[in-house]
Amino acid sequence: MRAIYSIVRAGHRLVCVVAILGLATAAIHAAEFSAATPSPIAELRAEIARHDELYHRKAAPVISDAEYDGLKRRLRSLETQFPAAAAIAGSALIGIGDDRTGLFATRHHRTRMLSLEKGHTEADLRAFHARLVRALGSGDISYVIEPKFDGFAVSVTYEKGVFVRAVTRGDGTEGDDITTNVRRIRGVPGTLRTVASDGTVNALPDVIELRGEIYVSWPDFARLNATREAAGEPPFATPRNLAAGTIRQTDPAVVEARELEIVFHGVGACVPGSALPRQHREFSVQVGRWGMRGVPEFRIARGADELWATVQAFGRAREGWPYPTDGLVIKLDDLAAQQELGATETAPRWALAYKFASPQAETTVLGITLQVGRTGVLTPVAELAPVEIGGVTVARASLHNRDEIAREDIRIGDTVRVERAGEIIPSIVGVNRARRPASAEPFEFPASCPSCGLPVECRSGEVAVRCGNFDCPAQVRRRIEHFVSEDGVGIVGLGPAAIDALVAAGRINDAADLYGLKREDFLRIVGAGPPEAGRLQAAIETSKTRELRRFIQGLGIPRVGAVAAREVARRHRSLAVLLAAAEGSDPADRVIATYLAEPRHRRIVERLIAAGVKPPPGDDGAGVLAGRVFVLTGTLPNLTRAQAMARIEAAGGIVAGGITRATSHVVVGVDPGVKLEQARALGVEVLDEAGFVRLLAGE
Ligand code: IVH
Repeated sequence: MRAIYSIVRAGHRLVCVVAILGLATAAIHAAEFSAATPSPIAELRAEIARHDELYHRKAAPVISDAEYDGLKRRLRSLETQFPAAAAIAGSALIGIGDDRTGLFATRHHRTRMLSLEKGHTEADLRAFHARLVRALGSGDISYVIEPKFDGFAVSVTYEKGVFVRAVTRGDGTEGDDITTNVRRIRGVPGTLRTVASDGTVNALPDVIELRGEIYVSWPDFARLNATREAAGEPPFATPRNLAAGTIRQTDPAVVEARELEIVFHGVGACVPGSALPRQHREFSVQVGRWGMRGVPEFRIARGADELWATVQAFGRAREGWPYPTDGLVIKLDDLAAQQELGATETAPRWALAYKFASPQAETTVLGITLQVGRTGVLTPVAELAPVEIGGVTVARASLHNRDEIAREDIRIGDTVRVERAGEIIPSIVGVNRARRPASAEPFEFPASCPSCGLPVECRSGEVAVRCGNFDCPAQVRRRIEHFVSEDGVGIVGLGPAAIDALVAAGRINDAADLYGLKREDFLRIVGAGPPEAGRLQAAIETSKTRELRRFIQGLGIPRVGAVAAREVARRHRSLAVLLAAAEGSDPADRVIATYLAEPRHRRIVERLIAAGVKPPPGDDGAGVLAGRVFVLTGTLPNLTRAQAMARIEAAGGIVAGGITRATSHVVVGVDPGVKLEQARALGVEVLDEAGFVRLLAGE
């Protein structure tokens, strides 16, 4: 079961068909190695953490911003009501998410990269203004109102006018070093201009962290998706997913091939501060003089009434903008006053993100069906009386899980408010109880699986209800779909319909069976023509030599996502070695050992090997430090010893205790021991922390 929504974007005449696949499969996938605790606070925190992971790291959110904000509101209220329970673990309310992938070296921001406080209503805007009036002691406040670009946040550092690095927001303090990729974006010049095109001479700061957004324009998004679809590849759901997914590619050529743009909307650190204008309204002009792109259009408003009127009018103009936005950003114009106000733990006090309301409509729930995912999780889906929301006909909405239905008390026959936010699966945001028919009964979650009929189970501490039958036909199909997807070995052209037909005909039951398929199967069972059958055969053959990490991820081992799969692949190097993986101290190894202890899992891997699957050795991001031996000595200024060791190993290097002729580098901190002298005596390269981090970044 899957949902396909056609989204027509008025004003751009852009039609994009978004296939939202496998509603349920994201659930377990995202929560790598998280411990489950059965309290409602812990559950909500885990749920929020899961959505943070999907949004920030995977660039594939499954709920709308409004729903996400709702979860946070609910958590806040629970934490206020039960402070003792809330104190047990750190709250998911604090923090701004974390976009680090583990694929790049980590870099510190000089000034923390924060999030923005959100407002949705006129009252939120007036409250923001009132707060600033109180804090600044004056009612005469001017604001700059800008589009809020919906892309991927980046901090770009220039030293004496030379581009030195680009870092993702990360956890706000440190992020992924994506310098190599950002170099390939046209809007990032290697050097800042000292003389602007109008002849003005520019003062260049010693150091400046420019904060910007990497995005893909609507026309480029449409073009790229059309090309992908023509090649049989799945389209990107949103321009944001495309931008966020592209900029964290480990192959810079992919970045080059996609039309990424960048806009600079603010500053982190700037030395000296005098290189900046006094008012934010002049910032775009300044950025332009340096040869970069500032925010192309903005408005200025004084006081609360003008602010609200301007926000409404400017917001109406957004349909004509060629770049994707998810709101407006309201900023205090006076930079000295911004400094005075400072920031909270997560956001500056001088700015507010005004989020556009997503289109909503009321309709009736005709029924509730269940979708069985790859891991057996049953996801309820509301079947709705079709209704048009923002130009799209919506007939289904995700209900997420059993508890969500109970929490909102959604019943068949109810009139519900449905929201469609961006290209996210539509969701139910409220029930109109006044219109509840007397016959509406609470939904009884079934006791048996709709696909195989066997009893369902609910593990302690989990919200999910699941079918525990490994041979359940729905799960078999979803597992194979996952294996052939881009998250797995990427067999282009083998879609869900073909998989369904092959499973129904009894030709495939697991991933290993794919490698026994014959040309006849594609012609007869899938109904492919001879050329397509040939292409499918070739695609399956080619997949035998995909990277090991893809096979590991494609197996769909619970709690082994992209990051863990990559690490495991790096350590084990082949499927045969993986089979021998004993229970070690590494959590990912333990999870894999548990998985392989199950004979039928082990058989799949054995049959993959027998079928000739042979990932090339050393193709799993062996890393920039592959084969190099490091020794650490002294205290590093920013990294702990454990962090430095982890980074060396993650990049394929080896950490040794003492200096030998095999040592390639010594990383030296404060108060180094005799190792530094030994290294010098042997002519081993000596690095300080900065040099080490540069090496990690591949510079
Ligand atoms: S100002 C301290 N201006 O929105 C943060 N941010 O949700 C100051 N964004 O992290 C940010 N357009 O990545 C600002 N015109 C704009 C923006 C903008 C998009 C992003 C930015 C920020 C995120 C917060």
